[in-house]
Amino acid sequence: MDVKSIFHTPICARLGIDYPVFQAGMGFVAKAELAAAVSNAGGLGCIGSGTMGSHELREQIRKTRGLTDKPFAVDILFAEIKADKTDKDVVRYADNVQRLIEITFEEKIPVIVSGLGNPAGIIPQAHKQGVVVMSLCGNVRQARKLEASGIDVIIAQGHEAGGHTGRIGTLTLVPQIADAVNVPVLAAGGIADGRGLLAAIALGAQGIWMGSRFIATGEATAHANYKNRIIEIDEEGTTITRCHSGKPCRLIRNKFTDSWVGRESEIQPFPLQMAKVGFVLAEKARYEGKIDDGGLACGQSAGLIRSIKPAGQVVRDVMAEAEAALDRRILHPAWPSAPASTAA
Ligand SMILES: Cc1cc2nc3c(=O)[nH]c(=O)nc-3n(C[C@H](O)[C@H](O)[C@H](O)COP(=O)(O)O)c2cc1C
Repeated sequence: MDVKSIFHTPICARLGIDYPVFQAGMGFVAKAELAAAVSNAGGLGCIGSGTMGSHELREQIRKTRGLTDKPFAVDILFAEIKADKTDKDVVRYADNVQRLIEITFEEKIPVIVSGLGNPAGIIPQAHKQGVVVMSLCGNVRQARKLEASGIDVIIAQGHEAGGHTGRIGTLTLVPQIADAVNVPVLAAGGIADGRGLLAAIALGAQGIWMGSRFIATGEATAHANYKNRIIEIDEEGTTITRCHSGKPCRLIRNKFTDSWVGRESEIQPFPLQMAKVGFVLAEKARYEGKIDDGGLACGQSAGLIRSIKPAGQVVRDVMAEAEAALDRRILHPAWPSAPASTAA
């Protein structure tokens, strides 16, 4: 069998991409330059609209189109407005979210990703327009619910992930979700190289959705101090805290996260904490480089990230590493020989 074809999974053919490497639509970080670089390299780039207004989203979409003629996605945080009792089956989104949705449809983006909330309200229109809808998901129950709502692809995101994250580790979450649903699954959380891609495929995923690895790239919208801190820390360098947004979120451990230890009762629920603390201080930390002053989202894969590279190089390296891992670990394993026994 041709080794390359193992990695050209059905989702690649469906979306018209060469490699099953998906760049996460990270708020603050993932804008036109990053999305275009990943798509140009054969993966699927994604604009993170979570921190954008409608004007900026339209601008970023058009800028991306100017940099690539390949497909790319838009990630939206589907904040809902509670429906009244009479129409509880109707999903309504906050006005700003509704505007982001309209722009994404108007601009004919082929893939929409739901990073938070309930994307069910857009699925009928998406399918009418041939748009693929994917959603992040942290447990089997939610995966079944998403499938029942008509979702096209589920991104199973494990505890290791940077940003908002759940309680279940990627290694156990991905196969359980792959067993529970019939739609394609992508694996997310803790994946930063080709070994992770090979493992994800073995677990039943059709590709990988990587966030943290793509922050440490030339094209990510993040201060050099943030990127360099990712290179410096190891697998112990992150912590889960609600101090950034009010929801559990994996951040680099720093003076900001330490300052909330013991003061958890003062943390407001989501989205109040995000509005009061997260947005303001994350801008300082992520854009101005004051990396001890606010939340720096990053996953446990930081320990695997050793250099800042062009985003396209990340995609190419992941593919080369996955092929090498398949060859050296599975097809032609060459394990180090055990030391000779010294027992008498
Ligand atoms: C800086 C940062 C910002 C993120 N923002 C979003 C977001 O706005 N929407 C979303 O769907 N996921 C967001 N995520 C989560 C990613 O989509 C992805 O699931 C996660 O990064 C995967 O784990 P990894 O960091 O171990 O690769 C964010 C992650 C990071 C690190």
